[in-house]
Amino acid sequence: MVELTDKTRDELERAARAILSSKHLVALAGAGLSVESGIPPFRGPGGLWTKYGEPPMRAYQEFLRDPGYWWETRLGDEEEPGNPVHELKLALEEASPNAGHYSLVDLERLGLLKCTVTQNVDGLHRRAGSEALLEIHGNRAWLRCMDCGSRRPREGFPIGDLPPRCPDCLGVVKMDTVMFGEPIPPQVLQACWEQAELCDCMLLVGTSGWVTPAAQLPVVAQERGATLIEINPHQTALTSACYIALAGPAGELLPQLVDLIRRGRESG
Ligand code: OAD
Repeated sequence: MVELTDKTRDELERAARAILSSKHLVALAGAGLSVESGIPPFRGPGGLWTKYGEPPMRAYQEFLRDPGYWWETRLGDEEEPGNPVHELKLALEEASPNAGHYSLVDLERLGLLKCTVTQNVDGLHRRAGSEALLEIHGNRAWLRCMDCGSRRPREGFPIGDLPPRCPDCLGVVKMDTVMFGEPIPPQVLQACWEQAELCDCMLLVGTSGWVTPAAQLPVVAQERGATLIEINPHQTALTSACYIALAGPAGELLPQLVDLIRRGRESG
């Protein structure tokens, strides 16, 4: 457990008050939330890109050029020790939701958190019990048809001839995860913009704020008057825009925040 400074304690109190007085709280989550579940982030200390370098920014274009070759490479990467795809796959297989994920569920069940927009593809929010959830970068356990957009679990889906084909329309099937250079599926993106416009308070948890369009959601929310509260052990691209920046790990600070919110509610 990190020792809380007086400053962090005061800021937790302020954050609890801001959330209690909000009408439409939205959370924007990033890889940092799953760090305490044993999943490495992408950037910063221990990050996959820090360790292995950033993947090509034209990944989606390369997939489109030759989906069969992409799948062949991908299946090889998943089995190759020392490959970031393999490292992430192993971490995901071992991971379970942590106290940070459960705290977001608590906030949802308290009726305060109206939606969690997550950039995480690890499925841990849903496993923890989140229901009002938008997975803006997709979900690693799912596949998506490029033609009809239908999604189905990867587990049990026959990946024989490459590229795999959609059983409904024979379109090319890709991972549901959004690749660099790939547009976010329009329905989920539209729903994210709606949340940014509706929200009057946004909780930014474990995101570096580097990747758009997700990183634009707090900007839009703030332009429309929303209060931004960040939880992150490090400064980010969004810290200076935040009303409160809680410096520390989400798995420790979020449960304390929920505790204060519960007590604030009880005392009226
Ligand atoms: P990043 O890896 O860019 O940033 C992770 C953030 O989590 C950093 O700001 C860390 O300081 C913070 N962090 C680390 N440990 C933490 C902890 N215990 N509690 C809270 N915060 C912690 O991750 P994202 O912002 O999610 O895209 O990255 C955005 C996208 O970039 C990802 O969704 C991924 C990647 O390309 C796709 O997979 C499509």
